[in-house]
Amino acid sequence: MNERENFASKIGAVLATAGSAVGLGNIWRFPIETGRNGGAAFILVYIGCIVLMGIPVMLSEFLVGRASHRNATGAFHLLAPGTPWKWVGRLGVVTGFIVLSYYSVVAGWTGYYAFLAAANQFAGKGTADFPQMFSDYVADPLLPAVTLVLFLLLTHVVVVRGVTRGIERWSKILMPLLFVLLIVLVVCAVVQPGAWSGVEFIVKPDFSKVNGGVVLSAMGQAFFSLSLGVGCLCTYGSYFNRQTKLMRTTLSVCIIDTFVALMAGFIIFPAVATSGYQLGAADIGPSLIFITLPNVFQQAFGSMPVVCYVFSLCFYVLLILAALTSTISMHEISTSYLTEEYGISRHRAAWLQTIGCILVGVCCSLSFGPWKEVHLFGMSIFDFCDWLVSKFSMPIGSICMTLFVGWWLDKRIIQEQLTNFGTLRAPYVATFRFMVRYVTPLAVLLIFLHQFGLLSWIGL
Ligand code: PFF
Repeated sequence: MNERENFASKIGAVLATAGSAVGLGNIWRFPIETGRNGGAAFILVYIGCIVLMGIPVMLSEFLVGRASHRNATGAFHLLAPGTPWKWVGRLGVVTGFIVLSYYSVVAGWTGYYAFLAAANQFAGKGTADFPQMFSDYVADPLLPAVTLVLFLLLTHVVVVRGVTRGIERWSKILMPLLFVLLIVLVVCAVVQPGAWSGVEFIVKPDFSKVNGGVVLSAMGQAFFSLSLGVGCLCTYGSYFNRQTKLMRTTLSVCIIDTFVALMAGFIIFPAVATSGYQLGAADIGPSLIFITLPNVFQQAFGSMPVVCYVFSLCFYVLLILAALTSTISMHEISTSYLTEEYGISRHRAAWLQTIGCILVGVCCSLSFGPWKEVHLFGMSIFDFCDWLVSKFSMPIGSICMTLFVGWWLDKRIIQEQLTNFGTLRAPYVATFRFMVRYVTPLAVLLIFLHQFGLLSWIGL
């Protein structure tokens, strides 16, 4: 068995975990979901999902990780030997692999757009140019595949260096940089004339817009954004040392993640409002940050070319940083699994994962171009992967994780982990157990069934 590393500092553990949570999910997916689902009311439902489901699931994953000091599957081998629980870990490993494959496609796009912004390629372009620019790029059989491979190799280089010198060190550099960029961009966005209606869109709730679909989207977004149900936080939890306070780390990560998502909203919606776009209209789609936003930047700041250049460049660099800290965490799930379960070296394990993801990622990438017509269950390969992960594997993985902690894991282990081996007070242990036994799994299950129309089928 390889010597196991731990995160060397508390702040390193928090930043690495927050780095996993903060990603394209916050800056790309959250504004899209908020725009589509009516703005402020969606945000409140989303926060509700974080409290009811996000915190209990995250704490469960940390707890299982640190109690076992093993990878996502090894944890179940150790804590529940000879039982089918190990399949929860295996599901996580497979899910993590799929997420990394398709997520890297979009991460590669952000790299390409940062390059375009740096080369001042947006200057002087009009509304009609950006959709063309994007569709030409994603339909190209080669270019998006090259950016995907480059992004995966960047991730690979960090992961291969190990937990302390790779993941922790880079998270400590990248995360503060990301916060600084975020704040600068928020200030730039909200001071523009006409920005206020964008701010109002995300602070004034209209509850008439909330329905079952909105709640489902909010839950899916919460799982994706907090990296839940994939074994990722279980893997990171396994690198926590005895001093890491699990509840405090959970709350810090949830707060940081929500803060970054809200800040992304405070950048994007005011910028959209400034340029006179309809908030919450059809423009708010997956292409938001690659078609609408570069155009928005031109219209909002076009009269000040330098501000426009800096703003666009900073925005895409921000996306790269956010995506990178997340892809690192996805990569680590399988790398630690292969290293520990099959005894192969970290180098070799990382290569296996990187090459596998390149192969699947290229298929996802081609599904925007030459393989557009290839469909799995009526969806493109990319959409199928996203559906499989966010609407299927993540909720199932989360339900299983909470059931495992609530019903299987010895109460003493929970007590020991939450009190840091008896050195901390943890008056919330009983509430936590109640949540993971009944409330959280049931809530996730109901919303999960709702998406397949099963609730109306059984008359609910
Ligand atoms: N939480 C990441 C984001 O918001 O972009 C996505 C993610 C990271 C999903 C790690 C799953 C995972 F294991």
